[in-house]
This record gives sequence, structure tokens and C-alpha cells, in this order.
Amino acid sequence: MRIDIITILPDLLVSPFSHSILKRAKEKGLLEVNLINLRDFSTQKQKQVDDYQYGGGAGIVMMCEPISNCIEHLKKERNYDEIIYVTPDGELLNQKMVNTLSLKENIIILCGHYKGIDERIREVYITKEISIGDYVLSGGELAAAVLVDAIGRLLPGVLSDETSALFDSFQDNLLSHPVYTRPEDFKGLKVPPVLLSGHEKNIREWRHEKALERTKARRPDLLKDSE
Ligand code: ADE
Repeated sequence: MRIDIITILPDLLVSPFSHSILKRAKEKGLLEVNLINLRDFSTQKQKQVDDYQYGGGAGIVMMCEPISNCIEHLKKERNYDEIIYVTPDGELLNQKMVNTLSLKENIIILCGHYKGIDERIREVYITKEISIGDYVLSGGELAAAVLVDAIGRLLPGVLSDETSALFDSFQDNLLSHPVYTRPEDFKGLKVPPVLLSGHEKNIREWRHEKALERTKARRPDLLKDSE
């Protein structure tokens, strides 16, 4: 899978993709992430990519021309399955959307700044608008990093234990069950005996019960979604 990220701050996104699971995904050739500096597509002397908004008011807006130039340049090289704009007024990201996106071949993610991008770019090019939560970040870069991380770890062959993503929180609309490792006794708190029993069926049932309990207590909305 190839993900092209259009940003005015490419340096900010170098580190998130250079460690751990995403690093491995890149090394194995399963994921290619390209950081594209939007300013390279400005035709203005100062490499300007934003301007005052028509109608007045505080805050500047990212201009059509550099974004359009950049996307057209990329589209000449290959077809894109989605051109995503990360924005607080987009569709709220969830695991189902991540699963769907992980099946795509080529994706562009456009990161906004300031008051956002000119509406006409959304109309002409953007196929999907995604928010990572009901709060406002200072730019789309961290949202793009979250999205790429969530997608990248699902690509077949990326996680060393192929089955582990299947049992993540949210994959079956349930939060994860509690997990334990050594020691068996920590400050008087014991590991639940069933986990030490070696009885696979009982362990599976216990985990499902705990996942259900936790979901009911913390995220009852997820259970409603699966009804
Ligand atoms: N850009 C700024 N805030 C954002 C958010 N919550 N989600 C996605 N992109 C954003």
C-alpha cells in the first residue's frame, strides 16, 4: 500500500513512521509513506500556500492552486482509491473505516492548517473527510499520523502475530479484555486463577465475559451499534 501525505510540515511526520511496527512495514515493503511538501507546488515567490478569507474574519485559508497542482501531479503518476482530507468536521474515525481503508492500494492524505482549505478543493478532489475526534488540533499532521498508524498495522504481514489485530478492541464492537503478565502477585493483587489454569475454553469464555463487562461499563454505545 502507498500513502502520500500532503503537508506544509513534512519534518513533523518523519518520526512517527520511523519506529516499531510502521518501520517494519516499510522495511518489508508492505507500506510506502511519502511526505510531500505542499510549498513545493506554490508558484508564488515566497512559496505562499495560504491567504486571507473572502468575506473577512480572523484566520487564513489554504489556497486552491498549490493543493490542486500537487494532487494533479500525483494523479499523473497513478490512480488513487481515496483522497482524504483530515479535518475536525469530517466523519469520525472508527475501526470499521480503518479496516476498509487498509484494503486500498493508493491513498492521498491532505493535512490542513489555519482555518482549513478552500471549499472548492473539497468539492473537486476530496473523496473522504475524516476527523480523529471532537477536538481541534493545530494541524492535520497528527491526525494523518494516527490514521496511517491504524491502517499500517492491519496490512497483512505487518504484525508478527497475524491473528493479533483480529482480537483488538473494536474489531468485534467490544473493548479488549484485561491482560496480565508476570508476576502472579503484584502488591497483593493476584492474576485471575482461570488464566493460570491452562484450560483454553474457560479462558476464552472468561475473556469474552470481561470484554463484554468492560464494554457495558465504558462504551455501551458500541453494543448498541452491533445490535
Ligand atoms: N485537524 C485538526 N483537528 C483535527 C481532528 N480532530 N481530526 C482530524 N484532523 C484535524
